[in-house]
Amino acid sequence: MQLDMEQFKKIRDLINSKSGIFLEDKKMYFLEKRIEDRMKEMDVDNIDEYINYLKFYDNGTEIQKLIEKITINETYFFREFEQLQAFAEECLPEVERFKNRIRDRNIRVWSAGCSTGEEPYTISIILHEMLENPDLWNIYILGTDINGKVLEVAKKGVYDERVLKHVAKTYVEKYFDRIKYNVFKVRDFLKEKIEFVQSNILDMDKKIEDDFFDFIFCRNVLIYFDDNSRKKALDIFYKKLKSRGFILLGHSESVGRITDKFNYRKMRNYYVYQKP
Ligand SMILES: C[S@@+](CC[C@H](N)C(=O)[O-])C[C@H]1O[C@@H](n2cnc3c(N)ncnc32)[C@H](O)[C@@H]1O
Repeated sequence: MQLDMEQFKKIRDLINSKSGIFLEDKKMYFLEKRIEDRMKEMDVDNIDEYINYLKFYDNGTEIQKLIEKITINETYFFREFEQLQAFAEECLPEVERFKNRIRDRNIRVWSAGCSTGEEPYTISIILHEMLENPDLWNIYILGTDINGKVLEVAKKGVYDERVLKHVAKTYVEKYFDRIKYNVFKVRDFLKEKIEFVQSNILDMDKKIEDDFFDFIFCRNVLIYFDDNSRKKALDIFYKKLKSRGFILLGHSESVGRITDKFNYRKMRNYYVYQKP
């Protein structure tokens, strides 16, 4: 099977409208391989027939399966360590002090595009380490991803020793149980603060109340979007954040070009955005 540019663009547009993900022209071969797999699995041998099915007959199941084949799910514990330091040592204490003053005991974090769970578990570890008295807080972390398969891994919270190579040994001892020689499971008290939900970021507007989160992490997700979808995502994040809440993006991502709604703050050599 070989895609031509017109066929590529039809499928690219469908993927983009359902997920925000935009595949550049150079990704044609990448997409072709994934479509080929889907066509085999569906026993379809004509690409136009497959496109027709996607456009006119699919109830959402097939496009979801295709999207799950094209998402890049790379992640690891304590990814972008310096940014996490800025979060732990600057953003979090600021929010903690403010919340102590107004006697609000909730800390709510959204990890949008959380993949196999390393990011929300890392955030949970940081909250337990850095809050002065973590037991006094109602901690809620929402981990969402468009890809249901990676969320199955996230929900289990079971990781091979190699995956834990960026986690300090003391944290491994404190926050994980060894369940086999080289397999570890996140401890329940860390897990129970996290809810994993399969969802497209762009569909979250109606699913969460406004002014809800203190922090939104959306790292290494918007790089795969086009500008229009980035703007939609940032509008949703803006609505879902509390005033003074922070948004943390990946190091190569910035909101400045897309929206001027957030304040731009430099913390420990890292830029974070804050809702005024
Ligand atoms: C490269 S991973 C980043 C994981 C983690 N945030 C990190 O920085 O390590 C990107 C994740 O975003 C998810 N994703 C892509 N588009 C999405 C969308 N529209 N809604 C929710 N998740 C999405 C992918 O399935 C993938 O798991």
